[in-house]
Amino acid sequence: MNSISRSVIEVDNLTKYYGELRAVDHISFKVEEGKIFGFLGPNGAGKTTTVRMLTGVIKPDEGTARIMGYDILKEPIKAKEVMGIVPEASNAYVDLSAWSNLMLMGELYGIPKKERERKAEELLQKFGLQERKNEKVKNFSRGMKQRLLICMALINSPQILFLDEPTTALDVQSARIIRDMLLDLNRGGATIFLTTHNMEEANLLCDEVAIINQGKIAAIDSPERLRTKIGRLNAVEVSFTSSPNMEKLAEIPSVREVKKIGNKVRLYTSSPGQVITHLADYTKENNVQIITLQTLAPTLEDIFIMLIEARK
Ligand SMILES: Nc1ncnc2c1ncn2[C@@H]1O[C@H](COP(=O)(O)OP(=O)(O)OP(=O)(O)O)[C@@H](O)[C@H]1O
Ligand SMILES: [Mg+2]
Repeated sequence: MNSISRSVIEVDNLTKYYGELRAVDHISFKVEEGKIFGFLGPNGAGKTTTVRMLTGVIKPDEGTARIMGYDILKEPIKAKEVMGIVPEASNAYVDLSAWSNLMLMGELYGIPKKERERKAEELLQKFGLQERKNEKVKNFSRGMKQRLLICMALINSPQILFLDEPTTALDVQSARIIRDMLLDLNRGGATIFLTTHNMEEANLLCDEVAIINQGKIAAIDSPERLRTKIGRLNAVEVSFTSSPNMEKLAEIPSVREVKKIGNKVRLYTSSPGQVITHLADYTKENNVQIITLQTLAPTLEDIFIMLIEARK
């Protein structure tokens, strides 16, 4: 392990207003070189606004950030040279072929013709688009389009890759292909900043995750540690053929709290599996049957509220 780590993204008090709305509210964080950093939050949390500021599309109202040491306000061109960007909305021209899109992007970055052709070939190969490279992008499936966008972002061999919800609206298989490719790029040395509203994706990919809601960061931690904190929000929801004995249910080991919600009972626990086993015993002892049973994972909103409460 390399003990000397340096921050390649340094965000300091970054803030953006849209009229009265504080879309991004004085956020600060650092991303170390070679890490995959996840920006996890629900719709409207401020993820895209943050990415747009970091990638120089819009200017912050307060605060700043440094990318590989380059201040995004003072040295925006230098900062942009070291980054690749996969934006939320596709930036590919659908009436052009994959190849033409890559050439265009290469030209924008001022990459010499020979070099951009070599790089484009390499990327198309790697991302499984080689055989379709002369086809118009409008004929591409969503997953293929997303792979092309990543190729376009990589044409200038960036050290840092920003991706805004790279797997949203993809099927399971296509999402997995993209994730595997991101892991592969990361193993090759790229630092990756990605936004997602998918907790599982953050768990699978990220070394570190920031949880953002309403423009504020509620927590930054490793997925493992966040999972431990979040684990206590899991619950088992069950309904029975006759009215439940709340006292007995509350005595089930590992149950933290029992709530009655309509005809269902919700048992909060960090060990849903254990609770389900005990529920089976409960039905036998009390001569009742289970009608419905489901485990409930916390929503991002639940997690956010819990993290804010924990800080008070
Ligand atoms: N151009 C704009 N003008 C006005 N308000 C905006 C603009 N862009 C974003 N907002 C508002 O800023 C807030 C943050 O939006 P943002 O797009 O950053 O969220 P997000 O986390 O990317 O959400 P999603 O998961 O839906 O992509 C929202 O309330 C949004 O309505
Ligand atoms: Mg967004």
